[in-house]
Amino acid sequence: MEDNKILIRNAAQLVTCHGDKARRGAEMSDLGVIEDGAVAISDGVITHVGPTEEVLRDIHVEDYLEIRAEKQAVLPGFVDSHTHFVFGGYREEEFSWRLRGDSYMSIMERGGGIVNTMKATRESDFDTLWNSGEERLDELFAMGVTTVEGKSGYGLDLQTELVQLRVMSDLNESHPMDVVSTFLGAHAVPPEFAGRTDDYVDYMIEEVLPAIRAEHTVTFCDVFCEKGVFSLEQSERLLRAARHHRFKLKMHADEIVPFGGAELAASLKCVSADHLLHVSDTGIQRMAKAGVVATLLPLTAFSLNEPYAPARKMIDAGCAVALASDLNPGSCFSASIPMLIALACIYMKMTPEEAVTALTINGAAAVGRASEIGSISVGKRADVILLKYPSYKFLPYHVGMNIVDTVIKNGKLYLM
Ligand code: NIG
Ligand code: FE
Repeated sequence: MEDNKILIRNAAQLVTCHGDKARRGAEMSDLGVIEDGAVAISDGVITHVGPTEEVLRDIHVEDYLEIRAEKQAVLPGFVDSHTHFVFGGYREEEFSWRLRGDSYMSIMERGGGIVNTMKATRESDFDTLWNSGEERLDELFAMGVTTVEGKSGYGLDLQTELVQLRVMSDLNESHPMDVVSTFLGAHAVPPEFAGRTDDYVDYMIEEVLPAIRAEHTVTFCDVFCEKGVFSLEQSERLLRAARHHRFKLKMHADEIVPFGGAELAASLKCVSADHLLHVSDTGIQRMAKAGVVATLLPLTAFSLNEPYAPARKMIDAGCAVALASDLNPGSCFSASIPMLIALACIYMKMTPEEAVTALTINGAAAVGRASEIGSISVGKRADVILLKYPSYKFLPYHVGMNIVDTVIKNGKLYLM
């Protein structure tokens, strides 16, 4: 037996989510399930996928560490394509104010919110941010997440944004989890630019974007496009500059009020537009046409006690929908993948099949990696999870409980 070879065999369900691009609309219902399935892994790569009998014919089984999964469903590792997992401090006081009726935006307008976390992050050192970031990755990993996207946006100055991004790139190297980094300098206007949002956007474009690009570890640029934060014009100006520096684009769009964010994301051909609680019908149609992944964050809607994004409408209109946690210290201090799946199915009326697609191949598409991860396909990286139960349908059914039993990341076995 060679220790770089793993065979998962006789899986009750092998949920392949096959393909190498986002699934749109009705395609999201097709999980490519193989009953009594097998997957062979060698040197971190998936080499064989199919019914167990067929795979056994093609390999020398004695070379492999065998995992018999008769009572287990096997899925691609989940991709959490929207988080803010590196931050200093907490905002538990603000949460209790919100429970008493304060709104997220009114707290932000009073100088709390993101700027509150900015202060704590500027005061934190690299190691403190790294240690708490690592703990959060451990938690996500145990719930079956094998790739996570993480955003800066709590520095709001060049130096601290760089620290956040360096923490993420360092964790990408040292933690089994893959971390895709996003620059979100336009997350809020820091106190030193108060009342001068355009000047802050200029500062981002002229000084910060080029310096971040020089790091070569950051894939995406994102912006909090929202009434009272960054306008459509300011968001567009920043994103066009980011594209010029070869960043891929994302947007926080239509989260708090209808704002035309989805329409802008479509016209700029952003990889994803995220939140979309208040997306317009036109925005939905344009995203579907432009192939923008609609990334929905039900844990945030739940935590803010706001109406959920219209997932059904988007899928029925032909959009590719992804689901992600939005883990952050303010609007959503949760990365509970089990609860996220339950909310998506129970309140957003997504089917279990659509929820699985949204967390696998569509999550991979939302981080620009659908050709490498997000499905159990020959040639893809071996990021695979085994559930404690024989069907993916247990994911929303076993509400809020982690049913991930085993994680295989890059061909390496981790028992949970
Ligand atoms: O995705 N809306 C903007 N950004 C985050 C919240 C960040 C925070 O409150 O710290 C979000 O909800
Ligand atoms: Fe967010």
